Amino acid sequence: MNTNKVQFLLNNKICELINPDPNQTLLNFIRTKLKKTGTKEGCAEGGCGACTVVVGELNNDQIVYKSINSCITFVTFLHGKQLLVVEDLINQDGSHHPVQQAMVRFHGSQCGFCTPGFVMSLFSMYKNHNSYNSDLIKDTISGNLCRCTGYRPIVDAAKSLNKVDFKDNFSKNKKKTVKILKKINSKNLSIINKDKKYFSPSTISELKKIIIRNPKSQFLNGGTDLSLIVTKERKDINTIINLKSIKELDFIKTNNNYIEVGSTTSLIKFENFILKYYPDFNSILKRYGSVQVRNVGSIGGNIATASPIGDTSPILLSLNAEIIIQSKVNKKNIPISKFFKGYRKTILKTGEFIYSIKIPIYKKNIFKAYKISKRFDDDISSVCASFNLEIINKKIKKIAIAFGGMAEIPKRATNCEKILKNKNLSLINFENVNKSLEKDFKPIDDMRATKNYRIEVAKNLLTKCFLEIESNKLIRLN
Ligand SMILES: Cc1cc2nc3c(=O)[nH]c(=O)nc-3n(C[C@H](O)[C@H](O)[C@H](O)COP(=O)(O)OP(=O)(O)OC[C@H]3O[C@@H](n4cnc5c(N)ncnc54)[C@H](O)[C@@H]3O)c2cc1C
Ligand code: FES
Ligand code: FES
Repeated sequence: MNTNKVQFLLNNKICELINPDPNQTLLNFIRTKLKKTGTKEGCAEGGCGACTVVVGELNNDQIVYKSINSCITFVTFLHGKQLLVVEDLINQDGSHHPVQQAMVRFHGSQCGFCTPGFVMSLFSMYKNHNSYNSDLIKDTISGNLCRCTGYRPIVDAAKSLNKVDFKDNFSKNKKKTVKILKKINSKNLSIINKDKKYFSPSTISELKKIIIRNPKSQFLNGGTDLSLIVTKERKDINTIINLKSIKELDFIKTNNNYIEVGSTTSLIKFENFILKYYPDFNSILKRYGSVQVRNVGSIGGNIATASPIGDTSPILLSLNAEIIIQSKVNKKNIPISKFFKGYRKTILKTGEFIYSIKIPIYKKNIFKAYKISKRFDDDISSVCASFNLEIINKKIKKIAIAFGGMAEIPKRATNCEKILKNKNLSLINFENVNKSLEKDFKPIDDMRATKNYRIEVAKNLLTKCFLEIESNKLIRLN
């Protein structure tokens, strides 16, 4: 059964939006329709965190609280969820939530523009964890920019939450909230608003039928890239098909030889999983956007953008991953090296979508990945490099090297690989091969880096990889 009503929970009441504009952002809705102006607009592209709100999602009988950037989220995202904005944290007697009180006590706010965003990020941390160390706090607020207070008082406020009674009003009302959330109608959405349509199927077979009827539609995953068409390019997206509503696409499976990740799996879920297999994959994901971006952004969406500076692509290239593509009739496995066709172009044909990504498990190999960006957190790569080597008796038996930010697509350094294969692991061999990177890549100048910088840094990363392997130590700033 389909519905044209987006139903969500706000202040313990079920709200309904009939055929809303599928291109309306959640931020716009909160400020102009709900008239709650505590949530701010800064950048309108997911980069500053001023618009951070929290959504509560039912997972069995638990509520999972996720911070998201409302500026790059469509209002339809609310379907079946609880919405929490900064005004909702104030208790009925007018007193503040412990997170707000901590911000006051530690002078965490000056002009106050960023404060609602920080409060909501810290609120999601407070609700999802039992204790808060420096790493967790820094990760939590990595997507929130403050231009006047500075971060120390905010970090101190967050640390002080360790001493606060864990039960807030939301915990006390949890049973009631779960009950109402269960009542919400979370049927498949099928919205028609003037010339715009929005569908959220719950199974792949329903998805296929929608694709046949709407061949020109755009797939929506986490929306952290797609939504910018509306917010930055100021264009409309006429037909949207939401893939996130399909549970079959949200999974992580593993056996002895490979990991398979469903294409809508959020990056935050994946980063925790991949840690024990490839720690450097986890380190790169920790610096990928922010918690708000990774809470919704997906590995499938990252690959499908074919962005030359997408962080997962070079890693998956060096790990010889396969993309499982689903069409109306069948599924096929394609090596990721054949998936990117040109600048932001993939081999996907109309109606085809990424079902999953298969990542081999190399138990004996050495795997390393590095991200170079102007800002440590929440910044896009200037260059991203990934190395996968099988070394036996100090000889390189197999090697796969891939770079992002060095060409119009994420690409393997094939010349470099050929030269290093079967060579001894030595500094001279790694330094000699440096020159061949200029044959593999002809990078460009752009706002992130010059071509000369890119080539230089790529050579340095190759040397760094050798030095780390030889010394069996990590040479990292963080
Ligand atoms: C503030 C901010 C910071 C960011 N930081 C980083 C960063 O550090 N590193 C980085 O690599 N990227 C970064 N990005 C880019 C973006 O987050 C990623 O590209 C993201 O992974 C896209 O995933 P998504 O699920 O949000 O995709 P969406 O935005 O939903 O979709 C992106 C594109 O892929 C298509 N698509 C999605 N899923 C599928 C599928 N299963 N099959 C076929 N097509 C599909 C969509 O139609 C759309 O064209 C950042 C973005 C923002 C806004
Ligand atoms: S307004 Fe800057 S992240 Fe949304
Ligand atoms: S308090 Fe002014 S930007 Fe943070």
